[in-house]
Amino acid sequence: MENIRTFLRTRRSIRRFKPDPVPDTVLKDILYTATYAPSAHNRQPWRFIVLTDPSAKKHLSDAMTEEFQRDLEQDNLTPDEVTKRVNKSRERINGAPVVIILCVDMSEMDNYPDERRRKAEYIIGIQSAANAGMQLLLAAHAEGLGGVWVCSPMFAQEIVQEALNISNMWEPQAMFLLGYPVEIPAFRGRKPIEEVVEFSISEEQAPYETDEL
Ligand SMILES: Cc1cc2nc3c(=O)[nH]c(=O)nc-3n(C[C@H](O)[C@H](O)[C@H](O)COP(=O)(O)O)c2cc1C
Repeated sequence: MENIRTFLRTRRSIRRFKPDPVPDTVLKDILYTATYAPSAHNRQPWRFIVLTDPSAKKHLSDAMTEEFQRDLEQDNLTPDEVTKRVNKSRERINGAPVVIILCVDMSEMDNYPDERRRKAEYIIGIQSAANAGMQLLLAAHAEGLGGVWVCSPMFAQEIVQEALNISNMWEPQAMFLLGYPVEIPAFRGRKPIEEVVEFSISEEQAPYETDEL
């Protein structure tokens, strides 16, 4: 158990990768493990698009950064700042050996006649897909790989669908950049556990530890 706890606490978001490719067998293994995540009604609404080919990554990064640039221009940033951020975003996608787009497919989730339950079910579908995303990061960590969850597809869902030529039933939710880490960044710290948890039991019984790794 101690090893598993250490394993869970040593995952870091990795943003800089060695150019070494990730073997297909390792990649498939990670994706397979990701699908062991829990999902509502076990409907498994997660879908993945895996890009390793440089031209495919470039195509995606070009499309996404065009939209990103339009968004940044609306934010009243200086042209230099816009260019800097856009280039960084493009370089990050192109510099990652593996890019995975996580989508949610709601077609097999429950359908309800009323808006309240439809909305809840939609969020439940997204929560389920996100579980697979977290499991994917942990599976990558188990293989000695590093990865980072990137939310930019949420701001360019249709652009991503078009660029990757995927069904509009596959709604992009996140992008994962994976590869062998150049370095393991320091722990970024967390809020004190007392700030984010309320136990209805006495302090002495609180089953948490505050040690940082
Ligand atoms: C939903 C979600 C969206 C995120 N989006 C981004 C992102 O767009 N870019 C990025 O560099 N990191 C992103 N991250 C990574 C977080 O910045 C990171 O998890 C956090 O700073 C804690 O660092 P750690 O993962 O190393 O513990 C995201 C993480 C989550 C869970």
